[in-house]
Amino acid sequence: MASSSSSVSSTSVSPMLLVSVLATISVVAFAGNLNQDFDITWGDGRAKILNNGDLLTLSLDKSSGSGFQSKNEYLFGKIDMQLKLVSGNSAGTVTAYYLSSQGTTHDEIDFEFLGNLTGDPYILHTNVFSQGKGNREQQFHLWFDPTADFHTYSILWNPQRIIFSVDGTPIREFKNSEAIGVPFPKNQPMRIYSSLWNADDWATRGGLIKTDWANAPFTASYQKFNADACTWSSGTSSCSSQTTSSTSNNSAGWLSQELDSTSQDKMKWAQDNYMIYNYCTDAKRFPQGLPAECTNTNISYNAMKL
Ligand SMILES: *[C@@H]1O[C@H](CO)[C@@H](O)[C@H](O)[C@H]1NC(C)=O
Ligand SMILES: *[C@@H]1O[C@H](CO)[C@@H](O)[C@H](O)[C@H]1NC(C)=O
Ligand SMILES: *[C@@H]1O[C@H](CO)[C@@H](O)[C@H](O)[C@H]1NC(C)=O
Repeated sequence: MASSSSSVSSTSVSPMLLVSVLATISVVAFAGNLNQDFDITWGDGRAKILNNGDLLTLSLDKSSGSGFQSKNEYLFGKIDMQLKLVSGNSAGTVTAYYLSSQGTTHDEIDFEFLGNLTGDPYILHTNVFSQGKGNREQQFHLWFDPTADFHTYSILWNPQRIIFSVDGTPIREFKNSEAIGVPFPKNQPMRIYSSLWNADDWATRGGLIKTDWANAPFTASYQKFNADACTWSSGTSSCSSQTTSSTSNNSAGWLSQELDSTSQDKMKWAQDNYMIYNYCTDAKRFPQGLPAECTNTNISYNAMKL
């Protein structure tokens, strides 16, 4: 995240003042300014950044959806965003929030929120693409109404693993299984993308329930973006230089972070209670055998330990 090069001069600054200045800077860094981090990319005025960069809204009506993307490309990071999803009858709508690189052998890390009839649960759909290959869906219901308030959706992406979390509870871990021949996203920088669009041919109960345009415009909101991440620019990572500022070089340890036993317990709770689809248990879909990362004995062993 662009650190505001603070002009705290080297002349005698009282330690207390310095502490308060630094505290202010870190709060500002957390709150972010969505204008600095994102560009609205489509939707002809349906996407807006409001309140001096504190809030971003996407909307969808019968003629168009809308979307935005990050100005930065990232190669690894711990990326948080708060979302408040389309409320009421959101059936047929999809709010996608994901990281993706470019091209046919792209990598991608997806959150997609599939709307529903009023009172019926959203589906949080997740997927991971590596070198153009996805088909790694896991889906969840949520333990709260994602339309009533903002909730934090996070991606921890480091060379060993990708962890999807909701309000700090990990729901999915995709481990690096290169040792058994499964490509892992680690060479292609990705941008953050988000969009709100109509997908009523598949989104709600498999396409049975269509978007009711009487409820348009549909709106989803975003706030409090925070990227503790390695940004990529002109072929160089902000983390590769030992001399870069400590904010971008893993001062928080995310570059090697893994799930401790408390987090593993939380993930097991989320998966036991809220997972509604897991490609790794869909034997019918993979008659030639489950994908390698699902049957990696090392990983299953680790999963059994959960
Ligand atoms: C919508 O509600 C139905 C009925 O509760 C549920 O089976 C389904 O998972 C929900 N979500 C979507 C996106 O279809
Ligand atoms: C982070 O920065 C510190 C001090 O600048 C340096 O000692 C350390 O090696 C860096 N770590 C990484 C992972 O680059
Ligand atoms: C199994 O996991 C351990 C610890 O995560 C790792 O050190 C080891 O290389 C793995 N073995 C294989 C065959 O993947």
